[in-house]
Amino acid sequence: MSNRLPVDHEVAPDGTESWRTSPGGLVTALEPLMRESEGAWVGWPGVADRDFEPFSNDGISIVPVRLSTQDVEFYYEGFSNDTLWPLYHDVISPPSFHREWWDSYVTVNKRFAAAAAAVAAPGATVWVQDYQLQLVPRMLRDARPDLVIGFFNHIPFPPYGIYSQLPWRKQILDGLLGADLIGFQRVADAGNFSRAVRRLFGYPTRGTAIDVPDTAQHSRRVIARHFPISIDSASFEELAKRPDIQERSRQIREELGNPKTIMLGVDRLDYTKGIGHRIKAYGELLAEGSLSAEDVTLVQVASPSRERVAAYMDLRDEIELAVGRLNGDHSTIGHPAISYHHHGYPREEMVALYLSADVMLVTALRDGMNLVAKEYVAVRFDNDGVLVLSEFAGASDELKQAVLINPHDIEDVKSAILQAVNMPKRERSRRMRALRRKVFDNDVAAWSASFLETLTGGAKVAAGVP
Ligand code: G6P
Repeated sequence: MSNRLPVDHEVAPDGTESWRTSPGGLVTALEPLMRESEGAWVGWPGVADRDFEPFSNDGISIVPVRLSTQDVEFYYEGFSNDTLWPLYHDVISPPSFHREWWDSYVTVNKRFAAAAAAVAAPGATVWVQDYQLQLVPRMLRDARPDLVIGFFNHIPFPPYGIYSQLPWRKQILDGLLGADLIGFQRVADAGNFSRAVRRLFGYPTRGTAIDVPDTAQHSRRVIARHFPISIDSASFEELAKRPDIQERSRQIREELGNPKTIMLGVDRLDYTKGIGHRIKAYGELLAEGSLSAEDVTLVQVASPSRERVAAYMDLRDEIELAVGRLNGDHSTIGHPAISYHHHGYPREEMVALYLSADVMLVTALRDGMNLVAKEYVAVRFDNDGVLVLSEFAGASDELKQAVLINPHDIEDVKSAILQAVNMPKRERSRRMRALRRKVFDNDVAAWSASFLETLTGGAKVAAGVP
């Protein structure tokens, strides 16, 4: 179950409607398993006010959940993306607390839980994904105590001092504790969650185990642990080896005026990504003369996201003003200082961009994992390219051979950029080889297998099965 279905609803100019599988890593990882087990995916098709019947897509049943225009406004844009998202990302933007948004979150979570309860076979395993559906595990357990329930939080879980601002902090924890296994990206996220449970409920926790009282005499053991998510590394590498994509990467360099160094940023246009910090550091390096736009270009892909939420509209204005100023001050004809793109691109074009980038900049102020960092590494089968990576992205727990930075420290970002631009070939290759081992050892298939084995193994233990 996830807020968004793994298929996009498309309407052709002549009005014909169809479904297209979205290319996310989660779908790729789960598809074979779901086909084998006759699995169903419960989620929202991304369009408001439409009822769609369940259907089969490549051997997986798709169970669409309806959201009204008001649900989209209150549950999705409101509570999910203007309350939980900023709260869980260190309140980088101030979260809004509105009771009607919360009511809608409860109603929609109930609808998702009911849809899953209706399709799950006896004793089935249900895996609930992400912060939009945190109440579902408890609702599902109440309706269907026979199910094995896992939950994975793709975004950070905040420290208690921040989490405790949430007026519905107890209800959300209780919702999550309906699961048998709760997965987080980082050790620190799992620790923050267990601490919140101790502080708000006083339940005993030991290591990753939490004993949740079920009845006066009995308790149920819930496990809360980290499972760092990954990507389908091999499929990225395969694309990078395609001659047409390599040709496209050479073409990109030419079209940018053959700069000595291409730096790349790829993000959803989100205030958690530190795009402004990156532009500021780069602008200062150009202004001081440590870099020149004749030699260096920054390509920034900022894909449109949550465009009806005010904080995202403000961010767009802020970033586009900064890009315009920097280009006005430093670009010359044929040598843009920043080549800025407010679009999403097909995966092939992204791979060509990664291949052309000498330096990849990931400067997130807070990020659950940051899969872009892993994609860049997976693509670089030439063992070249330098990854500059924020300590505040979950990926930095694994990708320690990147040039790690504190994005709030502009001097640190500047010196990391200079270090990356000037890094000798041998050091680039040594670091990239080590990074690639990480990204290929823990790919998304290993991630889902590890979560599901822990979930089903744990459930067997609880039921007394050896
Ligand atoms: C993050 C979240 C996902 C979400 C995605 C895109 O990665 O963890 O749950 O689907 O952003 O955001 P959107 O609001 O467009 O679904």
